[in-house]
Amino acid sequence: MSCRRGSLIVLEGVDKAGKTTQCKKLVHALQQSGRPAEMMRFPDRTTQIGQLISSYLEKKNNLEDHTVHLLFSANRWELVPQMKKKLEQGITLVVDRYAFSGVAFTSAKPDFSLEWCKNPDVGLPKPDLVMFLQLNPSVAAGRGEFGTERYETSSFQRSVQQRFEQLMKDPSVNWKVIDAARSIEVVHSEIKVLCENIINTAENLPIGELWK
Ligand code: TMP
Repeated sequence: MSCRRGSLIVLEGVDKAGKTTQCKKLVHALQQSGRPAEMMRFPDRTTQIGQLISSYLEKKNNLEDHTVHLLFSANRWELVPQMKKKLEQGITLVVDRYAFSGVAFTSAKPDFSLEWCKNPDVGLPKPDLVMFLQLNPSVAAGRGEFGTERYETSSFQRSVQQRFEQLMKDPSVNWKVIDAARSIEVVHSEIKVLCENIINTAENLPIGELWK
């Protein structure tokens, strides 16, 4: 077992930007080059809290807006012991959405401030790198229809994009904006190089605390 820790790498972006495809390709490429890596995604719909969130997203139940925000956060916190253990074992975690989606989506609703939305996630393991897959809403629309889940409308996604832009102004987080309008392979190559560099840099550093 390596004594050097793995990196915490997050992919964020609005729907249709290609996050899931890129996470899978990245994990595969890292493993092929001999670097232990695993994929995670939030919400993790497999836990009890995750199942509540999933039926909310599928519009099978309604939850009060503050409550569901706290459930999304709790769904991250419940996985923190497992995440820390893996990072300490030298496994790099490639995460499809994290607290940034949490804040961007809730604060796109009326009467939610960025600050209130960030609070429950303060102190989570801090990503070593957050890549934002940037995609113009008109290009995203050309990639096909939205699904039927809650939040999957163009107007809501535009508000979410604006919240992400506000979050990206925070220099305490290592943001990299990736142009996701290019081909899957070109985007993948850029992401892979960025990750290899961060894995080498982060391996001797302690895991940080988000927004603290
Ligand atoms: P996904 O499983 O397709 O990524 O969709 C999850 C949805 O939940 C997506 O619309 C973004 C939203 N979301 C939140 O509202 N808060 C959160 O904390 C997270 C992780 C996702």
